[in-house]
Amino acid sequence: MKTITCTAPVNIAVIKYWGKRDEKIILPLNDSISFTLNQDEMCARTTVAVSPSFTEDRFWLNGKEESLENPRIQNCLKEIRRRASKRKLEGSIEDILNWHVHICSVNNFPTAAGLASSAAGYACLVYALGQVYGVEGDLSSIARQGSGSACRSIYGGLVRWYKGELDDGTDSVAQPIAPPDHFPNLRIIICVANAGRKKTGSTDGMRQTVQTSRLMEYRVKESVVTRTEAMMEAIQDKNWSTFCDLTIADSNEMHAVCLDTFPPCVYMTDTSHAVASLVHQYNEVKIARGDLNHKVCYTFDAGPNACLFVPGAVVKEVLALLLRTFPPGPSQSPTEYVKGIPAQSATLSKELMSLGDEDFEGGRLKYLIHTRVGDGPRLMLDAESSLLDHTTGVPKPTNGTA
Ligand code: DP6
Repeated sequence: MKTITCTAPVNIAVIKYWGKRDEKIILPLNDSISFTLNQDEMCARTTVAVSPSFTEDRFWLNGKEESLENPRIQNCLKEIRRRASKRKLEGSIEDILNWHVHICSVNNFPTAAGLASSAAGYACLVYALGQVYGVEGDLSSIARQGSGSACRSIYGGLVRWYKGELDDGTDSVAQPIAPPDHFPNLRIIICVANAGRKKTGSTDGMRQTVQTSRLMEYRVKESVVTRTEAMMEAIQDKNWSTFCDLTIADSNEMHAVCLDTFPPCVYMTDTSHAVASLVHQYNEVKIARGDLNHKVCYTFDAGPNACLFVPGAVVKEVLALLLRTFPPGPSQSPTEYVKGIPAQSATLSKELMSLGDEDFEGGRLKYLIHTRVGDGPRLMLDAESSLLDHTTGVPKPTNGTA
């Protein structure tokens, strides 16, 4: 039996991918740009095993056996095996291509709550398969066929997914554009809203948007193209203030095209808007002081959770502001409310104490995740990390979490 275990990160887009030009092999209508998040706080972990004794391909996700019929997983498997067989012709891998595969994957964060779990999951699957079959070269175009945004999780730091021009998708790849420490000491705070599973999944949502929204035509032809180039420049110049404005603008435009969809796709909730409003109020204070390098920005994916980009120097202040405006509810544990990197919150100035336009009701957020930018997928070399038993090839009994 050959076994490989890997972890892969979540990524958060600041120029959003929303809309496909090819649904089958997942080709987007526009380029997108993202930050890869640190895996200590959020990651997917996947073990892939191949063995001549396995009688069928099998797949376990978060402790439950799932069907491998899923065409997206099949596309990834097929493409990896196709590339591996090319290498086999070159005589460089042993004959494992005819063996069945067992795949076991877990996330250490809620699946399908708008927390980009499919991106980390597919990036991890493809990276692990690549290791098992010895596939080299670009893996992002394979991860892309699992879930579009997954192609960006193949790299660490700041990543751009080029939409490409070709029909076969070979030029629709992700590439790193800056290392994880490009904005030194940058922190990310994810405000997980107290809402269940999202209503319209992003795949269906973006299909409906492409079919019905005229505003989407404007986004694809004009605004997102210009904004992407402006974003590249802001990143290269480390122009934090412009970066913040562009990030907010692109998130708002994505949600505007979602509302312009028929029927509308509504992802942001009152709580989402309250977080956005707090960020704008905070930035007004910074702008009034000429302190543009300490602005904060938000972005929302296809769900109600806000993702905030926060300069390290103000992270304690921002956490204090969030805790004051969005305190835990009576049934929530205050000590488990801020997850991730430990941080004390600061005492708020009088000016900041006056911010927040809601009633400060407890329990609007489930919890906060405090994290930072991180690196790409990792290979786990210790046997402990494996999710599959090394003799039977089925999940170890303890594996419910990453
Ligand atoms: C809103 O990658 O989940 O997070 O390709 O259909 O699987 P599929 O969609 P998915 O879309 C995520 C879109 C987004 C924005 C982004 O990450 O760029």
